[in-house]
Amino acid sequence: MKIILLGAPGAGKGTVAKLLTEYDGSVQISTGDILRAAVKQGSELGTKAKDYMDRGDLVPDSLIMQIMEARLQEPDCQNGFILDGFPRTIPQAQELKELLIKLGIKMNFVANLDVPRDVILDRLTTRRTCSNSSCQEIYNVKSNPPAEGGKCKKCGSPVIQRADETEEAITNRLETYNNKTAPLIGFYEKEGLLKNFLSLSSKDTVEEIKKALKG
Ligand code: AP5
Repeated sequence: MKIILLGAPGAGKGTVAKLLTEYDGSVQISTGDILRAAVKQGSELGTKAKDYMDRGDLVPDSLIMQIMEARLQEPDCQNGFILDGFPRTIPQAQELKELLIKLGIKMNFVANLDVPRDVILDRLTTRRTCSNSSCQEIYNVKSNPPAEGGKCKKCGSPVIQRADETEEAITNRLETYNNKTAPLIGFYEKEGLLKNFLSLSSKDTVEEIKKALKG
């Protein structure tokens, strides 16, 4: 599959993307995971991105486009990919459109995960993430807790709260989403690529996305 997952912070993009990779071997490409791994490694990219991320602001489009142009040409993308958290602005969506034409890639559709705001706030304050940058498994203290002692069930590393999960950063991320990312819904509607999914259960959403891919 070749799809884009669109949705507010906490809508469940990462959770749905990870479940979809088990379906047909498509890879999850999360710009958030790539950036968090770079911050942890202390690379040049990480140093540039850290302050934006901690505040809940978007990282500059030019940095993201450099990452994505290279990532989409890696061999594992040939089996398919799920874009999680990219594109995030109209300029990113326009540049992605040109890049896909250049690479001869046709997307199946853009899945917009629609979740009420009160559910989102609850999910973000109760989320925990594996601290191992090559794992980054997602947990939730209410709906999907980690193993005893707060360890990741997959790799055993400590499970932590992300740096951008303070109340202030969450409020800023939701505002940034409304101002900069929500306009992509109209953009992809005009492109004829948009499909909306009311995403209260990640498993049900995954089944609906699979159905849409077949139909
Ligand atoms: P990123 O990592 O992409 O963060 P985000 O979009 O804010 O999304 P989240 O990861 O917070 O949420 P999600 O929708 O994946 O939800 P999840 O599945 O975890 O980006 C982080 C930062 O990086 C940005 O702020 C920005 O600075 C930068 N960045 C990244 N991409 C960029 C770009 N393209 N351009 C510029 N800057 C960029 O679920 C949330 C919680 O809910 C979890 O605990 C989960 O277990 C739980 N949950 C999910 N679904 C359900 C369900 N159905 N029922 C119960 N619980 C559920």
